[in-house]
Amino acid sequence: MTENGGVTPLVRLENVNKHFGALHVLKNINLTVSRGEVLVVIGPSGGGKSTLCRAINRLETIDDGKIVFDGQVLPEEGKALARLRSEVGMVFQSFNLFAHKTIRENVTLGPVKVRGVSKDAASKRAMELLERVGIAAQADKYPAQLSGGQQQRVAIARALAMDPKMILFDEPTSALDPEMVQEVLDVMIGLARDGMTMVVVTHEMGFARRAANRVVFMADGQIVEENTPDEFFTNAQTDRARDFLSKILTH
Ligand SMILES: Nc1ncnc2c1ncn2[C@@H]1O[C@H](COP(=O)(O)OP(=O)(O)O)[C@@H](O)[C@H]1O
Ligand SMILES: [Mg+2]
Repeated sequence: MTENGGVTPLVRLENVNKHFGALHVLKNINLTVSRGEVLVVIGPSGGGKSTLCRAINRLETIDDGKIVFDGQVLPEEGKALARLRSEVGMVFQSFNLFAHKTIRENVTLGPVKVRGVSKDAASKRAMELLERVGIAAQADKYPAQLSGGQQQRVAIARALAMDPKMILFDEPTSALDPEMVQEVLDVMIGLARDGMTMVVVTHEMGFARRAANRVVFMADGQIVEENTPDEFFTNAQTDRARDFLSKILTH
């Protein structure tokens, strides 16, 4: 299910526009993400990538256009919005764990509070997920006792604990020391292989080549190019993308 034809997309953005004051940050965005697809979003800083992610789970409102998630137009507020949020996981650059909760509690909290899962069941599941991301041994520690790479893996386990229909990753490895990047990417590659629908803002081209079905190049609020990773990285179509790639490839 890597193609858009024939399958109902999980997410569809139609003519989406967003301004911050006079700044036009999303310019008539049209984009679909299919179920099971891994979409990598790449592009210069300030291009609107984070705003795009935040609009998809409605951490940002849009001015006009439409965002449809799993067949429903994004709800404005209330219970329907809370449900949507719980179905779309988000992993940020800064891990955003609760500092005063243990690792296991961080992963347990959402299912208990939002889903009404029993503490025991949530705790058991949390351990399975921590096992999956390779940090079960740290379950009773606090976030500050873990490395950045470990904390980001906890953040991924926490997102998974809600059984999301998709996960948005906004530069998940940008704040990490270089030696920790791969351990987080490996977890993400595993999720991609297991069929998780993922939108990943990243400049990690190794990840894009191994895991992405499609790359979207975004600059100045617009989708400038959309292609397979192989085509995009070896045969970018626009000067804008070629220029960007030459910068990230030679830094
Ligand atoms: N809350 C906000 N208020 C005003 N301007 C914002 C806000 N968030 C982002 N911007 C601006 O919108 C543009 C797009 O930002 P962003 O989506 O964060 O880009 P990217 O993630 O590609 O770096 C930037 O010029 C940024 O300064
Ligand atoms: Mg950003």
